[in-house]
Amino acid sequence: MKYLIYFLSFMGFLTSFTTGCQSDSPVEDFVFQSPDENISVTFLLTAEGEPAYKVHFHDELIIDTSTLGFLFEGQEYLGKKMAIAKIKLIEIDDIWEMPWGEQRLVRDYYREGTVYLEETGGPARKMNLYFRVYNDGVAFRYEIPEQDSFNELVVLDEYTRFNLTEDTECWWIPGDWDIYEHLYSHTKFSEIDALSKRNHPNLAQTYIPENAVNTPVTMRTASRVHLSFHEANLTNYPGMTLKVDGNTMSMESELVGSDRLGYKAKLNLPFVTPWRTIQISDKATGLVDSRMIVNLNEPNKLGDVSWFKPTKYTGIWWEMHLGKSGWDLAGGKHGATTQHAKELIDFSAANGIGSVLVEGWNTGWERWIGFPDREGVFDFVTPYPDYDLEEVVRYGKEKGVDLIMHHETSAAPRTYEQQMDTAFSLMQKHGIHVVKTGYVGKIIPEGEYHHGQWMVNHYRKVLETAARYQIAINAHEPIKATGIRRTYPNAISREGLRGQEFNAFSIEGGNGPDHLANVAFTRMLAGPIDYTPGAFKFNLGPWRPDSNIPSTLAQQLALYVVIYSPVQMACDLIEHYEGQPAFQFIRDVGVDWEQSITLNGEVGDYISIAREERESGNWFVGSLTDEEARQFELSFDFLEKGVTYEGTIYKDASDAHWKENPTAILIEKKTITSEDKMEVKLAAGGGLAISLIKQKI
Ligand code: NOJ
Ligand code: CA
Repeated sequence: MKYLIYFLSFMGFLTSFTTGCQSDSPVEDFVFQSPDENISVTFLLTAEGEPAYKVHFHDELIIDTSTLGFLFEGQEYLGKKMAIAKIKLIEIDDIWEMPWGEQRLVRDYYREGTVYLEETGGPARKMNLYFRVYNDGVAFRYEIPEQDSFNELVVLDEYTRFNLTEDTECWWIPGDWDIYEHLYSHTKFSEIDALSKRNHPNLAQTYIPENAVNTPVTMRTASRVHLSFHEANLTNYPGMTLKVDGNTMSMESELVGSDRLGYKAKLNLPFVTPWRTIQISDKATGLVDSRMIVNLNEPNKLGDVSWFKPTKYTGIWWEMHLGKSGWDLAGGKHGATTQHAKELIDFSAANGIGSVLVEGWNTGWERWIGFPDREGVFDFVTPYPDYDLEEVVRYGKEKGVDLIMHHETSAAPRTYEQQMDTAFSLMQKHGIHVVKTGYVGKIIPEGEYHHGQWMVNHYRKVLETAARYQIAINAHEPIKATGIRRTYPNAISREGLRGQEFNAFSIEGGNGPDHLANVAFTRMLAGPIDYTPGAFKFNLGPWRPDSNIPSTLAQQLALYVVIYSPVQMACDLIEHYEGQPAFQFIRDVGVDWEQSITLNGEVGDYISIAREERESGNWFVGSLTDEEARQFELSFDFLEKGVTYEGTIYKDASDAHWKENPTAILIEKKTITSEDKMEVKLAAGGGLAISLIKQKI
């Protein structure tokens, strides 16, 4: 590890940067540059002593002078009349290993400037700002250090501003305090209208108080600079939405609040906020390959997590979303029976799929969605009488298939917290290491939101408690991913987007054929996604005759490579996989990667990713496109030189189309080396999947 402290004091360190013109005549400017010197952050104090920053990419001004500050309860605005006490600069060049992930080794290479500020008058409050500049973006965070006059704070508002320099193109979802399950909109910044997304018919909870967007929000400037705004290491603090002002082209942090407590956050000092992040790249693919968000998190606190093995899984799940079976017993078509679980175990064992998820196994589903008092309803240990948990576990062990546990909390987190230890003990007793959690509905107690500080702390408590029982969490209706998986590698995956299930239960065309081309450049920048791919039947009759899956079969295969998760579902009914040659790809595809390379792509249009499986050295390629057909050349120059790979290519047939002809697929076998190139044609809403099995020399 290279660890370099440049200057402990700003005296003598004056990289004055006076070429940019500021209307507010700063007193002094300090420039922090990325190691490759392509990105620079200028810190300045305005004439009023307001801390502010600007960002340049090459010589282009990306973020214009943007001030930073806070409003705490009972105090004046913090962020005026401040002076610099000192500045510290360090450079870090480190490599760390992901226990599971998109790649094994990650380089963490940045320069960091810390600005120590103090008010010149009044209570002389202190505030420190950390600026980290990577080759692929910028991050900054606030520290409120110990103070003479107070040791606790109530945050009423954080005033972090991002002043854009033009009316950029944006890919956004609304700043909903309760859910991320919205479709992405693609508009100019000035046309963002989050309030028009209120009253969504298929959301059990939604609250959009302002014209704000959620993060990650991705943008492209006229000069094709790609930007994505997000946050990293969201700990003991509310999630951040970004309030949009289309007249001034500016965004301002709008933290998710608590109407119950009447504030945004309560903090003890000293305190650091999450990192406010801007990923920057001249190519769309650069955003996807960036590891800045995980890098901004602290190292693994859990130590060895080899008890979690990345896995594919089938489940008693899609059938409930189709309405073929139900979660509850009283409805008369209970899905989670011992017999049915065994059928899935048999299928998984026969196809090399490591795990089976069983939803609807425990009592309480009769009083789930729509019941105002859902506390104390689910207990997470009592199976319905037609489900013998012990027998299912025993049978799974016999067949070499693990169970994935399911805990739907129905957004009653106090009940879950009371029962977590009991529930996790039961899992530990049966050797179950993964649980899918869920938080459908309005949070109880009323006035709390899924993305507020109280819930952020709940989700963290679940991770910490689960870790003690060697349990990994795949949360649905989660808090956003902010790279916490580095610190808590039992945070394996999460939903936090509009998943495949919406294709079943929304009739207005489901997620639409462009959804995943948007997701790959927005939500996926935050971390792993449990999208639940693998639909093989696209017309959802007889159960959902008005719904369909807006994708071709080849695209469903491509998702195993494009949409990263260490747990990947084969979501369809197992009978839909019988006799399907394309299922071979799901049998073969890896779930844990040595390295990943984004080969091409444009935000919201298309993307191709190649990933090398750990241990085997096999490669897998996935491409997908939106509603437009595409054609491009794919080069295999990422393959190991001098090695031969047995390639199986799963591609859209010439007449494939997401709506008219989704199942038309061609499967070809071919020997492939690093010298090869291939002409690729993707159908509208289509995709491509390739497995490249390394041949022994
Ligand atoms: C919503 C989740 O996203 C879905 O996957 C799950 O089946 C239901 N909640 C029930 O927990
Ligand atoms: Ca969901």
